[in-house]
Amino acid sequence: MTMQIKLATTIPKTHARINFIEKGVETLSTIENVPVLTIVAGKIQKITPRQFRTLIRSIVQSAEKYKLEKIAFACEPSTFPKLAKYGEAWTMSTIAENLLLASYEFTKYKSKPAKKHLTEILVIAAVSKEGKAGFERGITVGTSANDCRDIANTPGGDMTPELLGKRAKMALKGTKAKVTVLDEKAIRKLKMGGLLAVGQGAKDAPRFIVIEYKEGKKSEAPVVFVGKGVTFDTGGLQVKPGMSMYEMHMDMSGGAAVISAIAAIAKMGLKKNVIGLIPAAENAISDKAMRPGDVLTMMSGTTVDVLHTDAEGRLILADALHYARRYNPKLVVDIATLTGAAYVAVGQHAHVIMTHSRKLEDTFRDLGEESGDYTFPLPLWSEYKQYTKGVHGDIANIASGDSRFGGSINGGMFLSHFTKKMKWVHIDMAPRMTSVPSDKLAKGATGEPTRLLIKIA
Ligand code: BES
Ligand code: MN
Ligand code: ZN
Repeated sequence: MTMQIKLATTIPKTHARINFIEKGVETLSTIENVPVLTIVAGKIQKITPRQFRTLIRSIVQSAEKYKLEKIAFACEPSTFPKLAKYGEAWTMSTIAENLLLASYEFTKYKSKPAKKHLTEILVIAAVSKEGKAGFERGITVGTSANDCRDIANTPGGDMTPELLGKRAKMALKGTKAKVTVLDEKAIRKLKMGGLLAVGQGAKDAPRFIVIEYKEGKKSEAPVVFVGKGVTFDTGGLQVKPGMSMYEMHMDMSGGAAVISAIAAIAKMGLKKNVIGLIPAAENAISDKAMRPGDVLTMMSGTTVDVLHTDAEGRLILADALHYARRYNPKLVVDIATLTGAAYVAVGQHAHVIMTHSRKLEDTFRDLGEESGDYTFPLPLWSEYKQYTKGVHGDIANIASGDSRFGGSINGGMFLSHFTKKMKWVHIDMAPRMTSVPSDKLAKGATGEPTRLLIKIA
């Protein structure tokens, strides 16, 4: 990215000035030969953290609309009283993150990318050492979330399981994280029946990507992130109809977020123990593909009836969640574009979370607000267990009754079978896989929940 963002204490004449006004219309005028763009911000005293992010993003959008190249805006944290609870470092980080997120576009495949005008943004604020450090962290976080978008937006043919492994190595190069990519033979040795079955129909074999970052205390148990890495989801033999297959190259968005979050953590040098596990496979259609009615033996020994070949995410995650046990984790979090039903439940404005712990549910909701990757819970009650009972195997990969009901919960219940006795949160990120216009982000991947994962670690 060519755009630079910097902190400064005075506004140079070379930069267009951004002024916030409470109400009225956005206008571009000139004062003493310097362009001034007024942005409608509402009452500054009342701006909430959620509105603040949108405001920061709209600066980039509006400046680009008027083809401004260098802009500067004053943003003293103390002028936004409602942000005070998170502190100055948070405010400065949030500014940097959202400036970067708003200026991203996926242009790799454009022979002539549309010209971006903005090259430099100066944030004028007299902040403490902590504020400055927050701003620097925000640059790392925003850059990593944008890298997540690059990975997720890449078409399926250019992001095979093998290439996703290479991409993970690239993202973590030069950091203290170690990346190991297990090939099909190694996966077979581990008896990961779910990952093998989902990947068996594709010409590109599955991979199991392991990222280990151990800069915390030796005595401290790690947090393990498990990211769904389906590089393309055709639905398998029970093929997805029409346009519902269109965006399925992004079915590895959970894996991309795990890679990017650990990359950011490693670049910031956080003293943490974090593990990333990404089962990567293409859910393809061929004479070798898994069939409805197949019974799989998973790494855990549990047998699974494949009642639907399109419920593949939970099959690969089950093996990765079982693999997580070897780390004796203090917390396991899986992140997956798991169900269309999650969209039906919450629209496109939240990540759906499921956990048995009320405390973790609250923590994740709070960190959602703090990070900007908003989360909202669904239940995992034992009443739902009856629906994923097996016919011939121990459990089934979809509900045997009317699968229109509680689809996301059935997915979560399936996964809970493999996380017994571990502290675990399931994030169904399908609703946030792609942006909606009110996000003020470019079309395509959102880069979420990278910011949330960084806070959880
Ligand atoms: N990757 C899809 C879920 C999805 C759909 C994510 C749309 C993002 C956007 C997942 O593998 C899937 O196909 N789920 C099925 C589950 C069903 C067969 C129980 C679904 O949601 O229809
Ligand atoms: Mn599917
Ligand atoms: Zn899928």
